[in-house]
Amino acid sequence: MRKILCFFSLFFLLALSLASCKIFDKNIETSIENNNLYDEEKIDIDENVKKIGIVMPTQYLERWNSDGDYLRRNLMSKGYKVFLEYSDNIIDKQVKNIIKLIEEGVDLLIIAPIDGDVLIGPLKMAQEKNIPVISYDRLIRGSDAVSFYVSFDNYTIGQVQAEFIVDYLKLNENTENKKYNIEFFSGPVDDNNSEVFYDGAMSILKTYIDRGVLNIPSGLIKIEDTEVSEWNTAIAMIKMQNIIDEFYKNGKNKLDIAFCANDSIALGVSKAINTDYEGGNEIIITGQDGDEENLKNIIDGKQTMTVYKHLQNEARVTVDLADVILKGDEPSFETIVNAGWDFDCIYDKTEYNNGVKNVPSYLLGVTLIDKENLKKELIDTGYYKIIDNYPVLQ
Ligand code: BGC
Repeated sequence: MRKILCFFSLFFLLALSLASCKIFDKNIETSIENNNLYDEEKIDIDENVKKIGIVMPTQYLERWNSDGDYLRRNLMSKGYKVFLEYSDNIIDKQVKNIIKLIEEGVDLLIIAPIDGDVLIGPLKMAQEKNIPVISYDRLIRGSDAVSFYVSFDNYTIGQVQAEFIVDYLKLNENTENKKYNIEFFSGPVDDNNSEVFYDGAMSILKTYIDRGVLNIPSGLIKIEDTEVSEWNTAIAMIKMQNIIDEFYKNGKNKLDIAFCANDSIALGVSKAINTDYEGGNEIIITGQDGDEENLKNIIDGKQTMTVYKHLQNEARVTVDLADVILKGDEPSFETIVNAGWDFDCIYDKTEYNNGVKNVPSYLLGVTLIDKENLKKELIDTGYYKIIDNYPVLQ
């Protein structure tokens, strides 16, 4: 019966998320139209104006809307003509978007891939036309046409989430030999970041799992078994409901930690806990991004922490990098020094190998957010403002 219900609720939720994609679809068209209008008003159509194509994965998840917007505005203020495309999380659409922009004659591409492995063909086309490619936030794998990678220190993100658990439960000082139950919800393996987050987290948690301090009643630990496809909230919710149903019903076990790779997953997991979990105890829920709905949940005690990524800084690094490349200079460590950024960013030439080459990378720092420091880190800094008691992006 439960399985049938799950099937129907999955169907319902997917229909719902497709419906919301539809709404976003309209926005995409409008935003692209607006973009072109604004762009052309501001810059005289001039053959010398360089063109930059941005290809984002989807507007369904909060962050990519901000990324697209910040990138576009910053590039335009530097005098570039910008084309911004979203791909509805459909690989085929993303490939078509890239090819369309190459044919449009862009001088540089900024791409956040949906699936890191499937862009070899279109990137080859870019390479043949000498179009540099910046892999944005997620690494494009298998292609030597990737010029640079801009992201956050993804391994550290997993570590920050894991260290939070260790500190919160004082696992280091566990003198009473307490044991805790944990369940993992990872990102999809087609996103290169997922594995890096996972490895970072496991570098801290594995020792506690091996010692039996952290138990996994479902037995699901491998990234392939814990991945949530498309980072989708509805799928995460159903995954959690199934786990509760099988391993936590009728007082069978008490869940202590839901280790969620990001905020869209945490949202689904916390919804399932809210509706289906009967244990009544506090459950630590991790996340990543600082999406508005999750910050609200942190304030309301429905999520315990998130890892905040300053997307405006990620966009700034990318734009400065694009600027250096298009001015004909070779980006390097000096780029950081000359840019005078007032935030942490490291230049790394060895950490990110995409299977074909070590991609020179610019990696930004992150901030742990919980109920205690949310105001200080996100409101007092002016990144978010408070509307109706909850944080909203400035
Ligand atoms: C990004 C995360 C984001 C996730 C889902 C990852 O590649 O690094 O910030 O939450 O994709 O969009």
